[in-house]
Amino acid sequence: MYGLVNNAIEDLVITHHGEEVWQRIKHKAGVDVEVFISNQGYSDEITYKLVAAASEVLQVSVREVLISFGEHWVLKTALRSYGGMMRSAGSSLKEFLINLPNFHTRVQMIYPELKPPHFECLDVTDTSLSLHYHTHRPGLTDFVVGLVQGLGKLYHTPATATAVALKTEGADHDIFDVRWTLNADA
Ligand code: HEM
Repeated sequence: MYGLVNNAIEDLVITHHGEEVWQRIKHKAGVDVEVFISNQGYSDEITYKLVAAASEVLQVSVREVLISFGEHWVLKTALRSYGGMMRSAGSSLKEFLINLPNFHTRVQMIYPELKPPHFECLDVTDTSLSLHYHTHRPGLTDFVVGLVQGLGKLYHTPATATAVALKTEGADHDIFDVRWTLNADA
């Protein structure tokens, strides 16, 4: 994955726990990269090792690390560096989610070697939809949960994503039941 992803994990850890804890996590992960270059590709293994080491050092589950990371990705990384792209993708949570299947096509213009996930939205209502998540990467189900929660916060529309089908349990791909509460002025 692009270095941008590992930089975001670094930012999440340093913001909440400081530089010294980040160095411990990198050491535990056996990752000796001093500085990740955002637009350079790194092995996915590095990202997985950092997440696993963060879980051990911070003594929280991998699920919790991935959910926090998903929220941080939306509310900090994406907003800070790609605010225009985020805003133009929707003026409400529902609109953003409906546009999600095309979102990484635009990201690919900045990161041409991107191997993006693929999303599909089915059964759309005013307060729910079924989010289909296709990827060749294992283990990122809870990252999607955090991303959806982060998007809910971004639009002041509290949202949950509950996995109703899992690739790890034999399904073709992960499917989430996404539900949100409309805010008063929606
Ligand atoms: C401007 C905002 C965004 C940027 C720049 C961006 C960029 C990226 C990058 C660089 C990767 C790593 C893949 C690779 O390097 O091949 C990635 C992966 C991913 N992105 Fe985005 N992304 C953005 C927003 C989102 C949003 C809003 C979602 C919401 C669901 C999302 C879902 C994912 C997921 C689930 C992955 C994990 C990879 C996989 O499943 O195969 N991204 N994205």
